[in-house]
Amino acid sequence: MWATNLRIIGIVLGTLALYTLIANKIPQVQSEVPHALTLGANVTPEQLVAAGDQLYHGAGGCTACHGLGTRAPNLLTDEKGLGPIGARCGKREAGKDCKAYLYESLTSPRAYVVSGYEPIMPEMGRILSPQQIWALVAFLESQSGTVDVTASDIPAASGPAASAAPAASGGGGPGIAGGSTEPMTIIRGAGCTGCHKVGTEGGAIGPNLTHVGSRLSAALIRECILKPDTRVAKGYEKFVGVMPKMFGNQLTGAQLEALVQFLSSQK
Ligand code: HEC
Ligand code: HEC
Repeated sequence: MWATNLRIIGIVLGTLALYTLIANKIPQVQSEVPHALTLGANVTPEQLVAAGDQLYHGAGGCTACHGLGTRAPNLLTDEKGLGPIGARCGKREAGKDCKAYLYESLTSPRAYVVSGYEPIMPEMGRILSPQQIWALVAFLESQSGTVDVTASDIPAASGPAASAAPAASGGGGPGIAGGSTEPMTIIRGAGCTGCHKVGTEGGAIGPNLTHVGSRLSAALIRECILKPDTRVAKGYEKFVGVMPKMFGNQLTGAQLEALVQFLSSQK
């Protein structure tokens, strides 16, 4: 056990050293996430709602779970007689108005879990920028409610660079978890353990990754992270589309490779 652990640590450290050296040469892999959502100080509620609408139906990945009628509550249509999300968001938690509840639903979904559902919603603040989160809040409010998100809710964006920066909580630098290349820090920071078991930690929505290296090559693991839908894990056909698609944009090149090497060494 210890010998294996030491070997893994050795491999990881070696790989990290290598990739730290060439990190700057690895280009960021592009995925379909709209990068530059630049919402300036003059943004109107209509612009926010339109941006949120696009995210909701597109790269935000919300429709993988919402709107199917079973996996997650309906948001755009009635849910159990309470109306669309804009009509019920102010009544979910005592003392939380609609805006505060929606922001919490997106950034800490486990704080209030709608009864009758599993806590499988990813923490969107790790995946989307603050601008994108607020655009989604505005869009959800517009579903039979009142849009009261204003430019002052949105942290100042100083150009495309700022708007492209991930909203990793506690982050800071580029990449997830402040750009750390320590594999378990990336795995926790990216929210992988929200769905996957890795060793003794994590959930059971996706395949257990503890021995993933014995069934998938490094190349396949990389592909699963960058394009989750191209190769569906056996037995998980019903969960196609649940794994977020924007890790390619959020991880730095060095983080992606550290993650791939770590997972492929989990035999
Ligand atoms: C992996 C599946 C999944 C994805 C992807 C997902 N959600 Fe959810 N969401 C859920 C589940 C399940 C619940 C109910 C349990 C809970 O409250 O966490 C929920 C709850 C919510 C709620 C609270 C609903 C209510 O009736 O109070 C909101 C708002 C919400 N999600 C918005 C979104 C948005 C916006 C996106 C896309 C950015 C999204 N979700 C992506 C599964 C998901
Ligand atoms: C919201 C849940 C969710 C999150 C978050 C998530 N995944 Fe997944 N993942 C899944 C599901 C469901 C599958 C199986 C369906 C599929 O293959 O698309 C999967 C499949 C995989 C596979 C293929 C496994 C196999 O045995 O074929 C790998 C590798 C993987 N994920 C790695 C990751 C990594 C690394 C992260 C974090 C950067 C992550 N996932 C985040 C849900 C998730």
